[in-house]
Amino acid sequence: MRILINENEIGKRVAEMGQRIGRDFQDQRLTIVGVLTGSLVFLADLTRQLAIPHRIGVLQASSYRGAMTVAGPLHVNLELVPDLEGRHVLLLDDILDTGQTLATLVDEVRRLGPLSVRTAVLLRKIGRQSVPFEPNYWGFEIPDVFVVGYGLDYHDEHRHLPYLAGLDAAEVAAGAEGIR
Ligand code: IMP
Ligand code: MG
Repeated sequence: MRILINENEIGKRVAEMGQRIGRDFQDQRLTIVGVLTGSLVFLADLTRQLAIPHRIGVLQASSYRGAMTVAGPLHVNLELVPDLEGRHVLLLDDILDTGQTLATLVDEVRRLGPLSVRTAVLLRKIGRQSVPFEPNYWGFEIPDVFVVGYGLDYHDEHRHLPYLAGLDAAEVAAGAEGIR
């Protein structure tokens, strides 16, 4: 495992994002909707960098069921999303990879009737996007490596790491055989 972005760099960038988002949503009724589980740490840090009042909700989306690069069908659970009537939504995810997840989720959340839906991701992977989709806010561009930490997992492990690390091919292969 190799550290790609350390705790300090993440903290600085999330603070910058919070300032920009706070300015952009000034005087708007904002609800941040985090995509479980990967956005959990990002959500917790970003919300405390926002100087404007806002509500927090979550939804659940999962497509990576063990397999690393091949995403299965997307399972979406909207039951935990609070009432969005009269609200502007900022949909928050950990990483933009192919773009499939966020493109789908924006449509799903729009159907719940908010005033607007914008998106923020901490990471965007270069050269992987297959669905045309432009997030409104993003933290870092990263190369096409599998990353873990700061909420991101491999087989549900490593989410607790305070930094972002890339897994090398051997670690990915070991994980595929079951890391437990
Ligand atoms: P997309 O639909 O291909 O854009 O994938 C987005 C989702 O895939 C994210 O919410 C992550 O859960 C997962 N994902 C994509 N790349 C990585 C990675 O490098 N590490 C951990 N999870 C990833
Ligand atoms: Mg995820």
